[in-house]
Amino acid sequence: MEPKRTSGRRGSLIGAGFFARNHLEAWRDLAPQGVRLEGICDRDTARAEEAAQRFGSRPFASAEAMLEAIRPDFVDIATTPPSHRPLVELCAPHVRLVICQKPLAEGIEDARAMVAACEAAGAVLLVHENFRWQKPFRRMIELLESGTIGRARFLRLTFRHGFDIYAGQPYLRTTPRLAIMDVGVHLFDLARRLMGEAAAVSCETRRLNPGVAGEDAFCALVAHADGGVSVTEVSFSSRYHPDPFPQTLALLEGDAGTIELRADYRLVVHDGTGRREENVEPAVPRWGARPWHAVQDSVLAFQRHALAVLDGTEAPQPSGADNLRTLALCLAAYESADGGRRVTLDPPPAPHRSDTNSQVGLNQGGVP
Ligand SMILES: NC(=O)c1ccc[n+]([C@@H]2O[C@H](COP(=O)([O-])OP(=O)(O)OC[C@H]3O[C@@H](n4cnc5c(N)ncnc54)[C@H](O)[C@@H]3O)[C@@H](O)[C@H]2O)c1
Repeated sequence: MEPKRTSGRRGSLIGAGFFARNHLEAWRDLAPQGVRLEGICDRDTARAEEAAQRFGSRPFASAEAMLEAIRPDFVDIATTPPSHRPLVELCAPHVRLVICQKPLAEGIEDARAMVAACEAAGAVLLVHENFRWQKPFRRMIELLESGTIGRARFLRLTFRHGFDIYAGQPYLRTTPRLAIMDVGVHLFDLARRLMGEAAAVSCETRRLNPGVAGEDAFCALVAHADGGVSVTEVSFSSRYHPDPFPQTLALLEGDAGTIELRADYRLVVHDGTGRREENVEPAVPRWGARPWHAVQDSVLAFQRHALAVLDGTEAPQPSGADNLRTLALCLAAYESADGGRRVTLDPPPAPHRSDTNSQVGLNQGGVP
C-alpha cells in the first residue's frame, strides 16, 4: 500500500443512490474551494456511470479499485448501513478523512470497530449528521452558547409528518428498525448537542402503518446528565395540512429564557430583553427547491465543515467517537420500548489526549 497523501482536497464518493445526489451537488458547489470528486463508486454500475458523467468524475464498481486508482484525500460514504463497517475499514488506511452517513452502524460493536479502525489508521472519522447543521439549529446552538436563555433545562424535538418517505427510499419499508434508526439518530444527536450527555431513556414505539416492518413512530424521554430533560417525538404517519415535512420543530427552555422553532422557520426567542422573532429559513441552493432546502443547505454546510476538518482547522462535528454515544442512545431507546422500562446509559469515558476522534464533538464550543 502506498503512503497516504499528506495534503490536498481530492475526494471520492461511495454509494450514488437517493441521498447521494445532495452530496454530489454540494461537492460541486464547493469546487471553487479546490475540492474535486475524482471518483464515484457504486456497485450498481449504471448508477456510478450516470453520476460520474453528470458530475465530471470517474465511475468505479468497487471501492478497492477506486482507492487504488485515485488515491483520494477523503472518502464520502453514502451507502446504506450494512456496508458502513466494511467500507470504513477498507478506506481508513488510504485516506486522511472518512465521512460516513448516519446511522453509523446497526450495532454498537460494528460502530466501535469503525472508530478503532480509523484511529489505528490515523484517519479522522466524521459522521454525516446534518440535522445539527440545519440553519435553524446552527442558530439555536449559537443562541444557547451565547448564554441568552441560560442553562438548557427542557427540549422538545418534533418530527411528525405523513410524507411518503418510502417512494424514494423503498428499503425503509422492510427495515425492522425504522424511525429511531432513520430519524431518531439525527434528533438524539441534536438533543445531546443542545442538552449534553444522555444518562437514561424511556421510550414508546408504535407501528402505525401496517405496510411497513419497523416502528414508524416513537416518543422518547431522555434524562440528561446535568439534570435537563428532552422529549423526542417522531411519526411518519401524522396528518397535517400543511404537512411540515421535512421540518423539525423545537422548543428549548433555559433557566433564563426560551427558544422556539416554529413551522415556516420562525425562531421565537424569549430572553431577558423580551420577545423577538427571527427568520431562520435557509437559502435554496442553486440546484435545490422548497421544501427540501433545509436539508439541502445543511448538506452544503456539513460538507463545508468536512473540508475544514480535512484541513485540520475544525474538529469533526460529530466525530465517530462522539456518535457512538448517539447510537448507544438509539439502541437503549429500543431496549426501553421492548422491555417497557427506563434504560440507563454508561457514563462517557474520560477523553484522552491522543484520541483524534474524541477530541471534539463533546457538546462543547463552536457552532454547531
Ligand atoms: N442525512 C440525511 O438527511 C439522510 C437522508 C436520507 C438518507 N440518509 C442515509 O444515507 C444512506 C444512503 O441512503 P439512500 O437512501 O441514499 O440509499 P440508496 O439505497 O438509495 O443508495 C445507496 C447506494 O449505495 C450503493 N451501495 C451499497 N453498498 C455498496 C457498496 N458496498 N459499494 C458500492 N456501492 C454500494 C447502492 O447500490 C445504492 O446505489 C443511508 O445510511 C441513509 O440512512 C441520510
